This record gives sequence, C-alpha cells and structure tokens, in this order.
Amino acid sequence: MSLWLERPGLHHEAAWLDIVGEIRAAEEPIVPYSLTLDLDSYLDFWHKTEQYSNGDNLGDKVRADTFFLMGDQKPGRILGAINLRYGLNEYLRLYGGHIGYGIRPSERGKGYATAMLGLGLKECRRSGMKKVLLTCETWNRASARVMEHQGAVLENVVNLGEKRFARYWIEL
Ligand SMILES: CC(C)(COP(=O)(O)OP(=O)(O)OC[C@H]1O[C@@H](n2cnc3c(N)ncnc32)[C@H](O)[C@@H]1OP(=O)(O)O)[C@@H](O)C(=O)NCCC(=O)NCCS
Repeated sequence: MSLWLERPGLHHEAAWLDIVGEIRAAEEPIVPYSLTLDLDSYLDFWHKTEQYSNGDNLGDKVRADTFFLMGDQKPGRILGAINLRYGLNEYLRLYGGHIGYGIRPSERGKGYATAMLGLGLKECRRSGMKKVLLTCETWNRASARVMEHQGAVLENVVNLGEKRFARYWIEL
C-alpha cells in the first residue's frame, strides 16, 4: 500500500465534496479546520489555501500548507488532511501547535493518521523546521497515540476554558 500527500488542485473538487460531506453527515466538526476554512465553495477554498501557502493577506495568521492524504488502494479518494503551519502566533503557541490533522470517519483505525503525520513531518523538515509543536485535547487518546508513534514528547497540559490541551514536541 502506498500513501502520499497532494496539494489541493482544481481537479480535487469532487473528492473534496465527498470527504466534507461524509464528515458533516457524521455531525463531526471539520478537523483540520483548514480542510474547508469554513467555506462551502471548493474554488473559494482553493484560492484561500493558495493565499495561506504563499503567505498573502495573512493578518494575524501564519503561513501554512494544507495537504490531502491519498492512497493507491482507493485512487482519487481523499483519506484525510493535514495542515502544516510554519510559525506560531499566540493561540498556536499555547493551544493549536504547528500541525493539525484528521482522517475521514470511514477510514479511521487503519494507521492512516500515523502515516500522514510522518509524511507531514518530512515536509516540515524539508522546509527547514527543527522542531514542531503538536497539541490535542486530553480526551483525544487516538490523536495522542498518533503523535506518540511519531516520537512526540509531552511538555505540559494547559487549560482554555473547559478544554484541556496536551502540548507535545517532536524534534525533526
Ligand atoms: C485522531 C485521528 C486523526 C486518528 O486517525 P486514525 O487514522 O484512526 O489513527 P491511526 O489508525 O493512525 O491510529 C493511531 C492510534 O490511535 C488508536 N486509536 C484509534 N481510535 C481510538 C480511540 N477511539 N480511542 C483510543 N485510541 C484509539 C489506535 O489504536 C492507534 O494506536 P495504536 O497504534 O497504539 O493501536 C482520527 O480519529 C480523527 O480524524 N479524529 C477526528 C479529528 C481529530 O481528532 N484530529 C486530531 C485533532 S488533535
């Protein structure tokens, strides 16, 4: 089985509508947020994703890339998505971290998130990052396992309102 990351292209529209539809039908929040950026139109999403990638009009946000996880077992199907943020603002430093990811509900429990994070870490290394911060809410054992599989070391747990975020680092 082969898995790889693809940058969103204009040809991904149908596959994107399919994964977003599945997550919405499951009544789950969209994770990572960058999978839709809260947009319903693929073209709008694509344009804004390009802006993030190029570092245009960022405001208080940081430059970031989103990649889709694809595999040869189900060609053309987006299995999940990962968001790589090349810096930290105040929110990211405490609660968000450098990387966000999610696997569509029907494809979970197959090791895809662990593999996707591994591929994302390679991209981070390629872009010159030396260590990355990852966070997850303390109830999210699956996400914590994914990080631990990739060598994450817990720094601390911080509170944001009712939520508790575990903060981990991975040396690249
Ligand atoms: C978290 C998430 C990305 C994991 O994706 P996945 O592809 O199922 O993960 P993997 O198959 O690589 O499994 C990783 C580990 O999680 C464990 N795991 C999976 N579901 C679990 C659950 N409900 N409870 C506890 N552990 C779980 C697996 O057993 C595996 O650990 P192991 O190798 O030690 O057995 C996926 O559940 C998801 O997209 N959730 C919604 C979005 C989200 O929470 N993203 C992370 C935000 S920080």
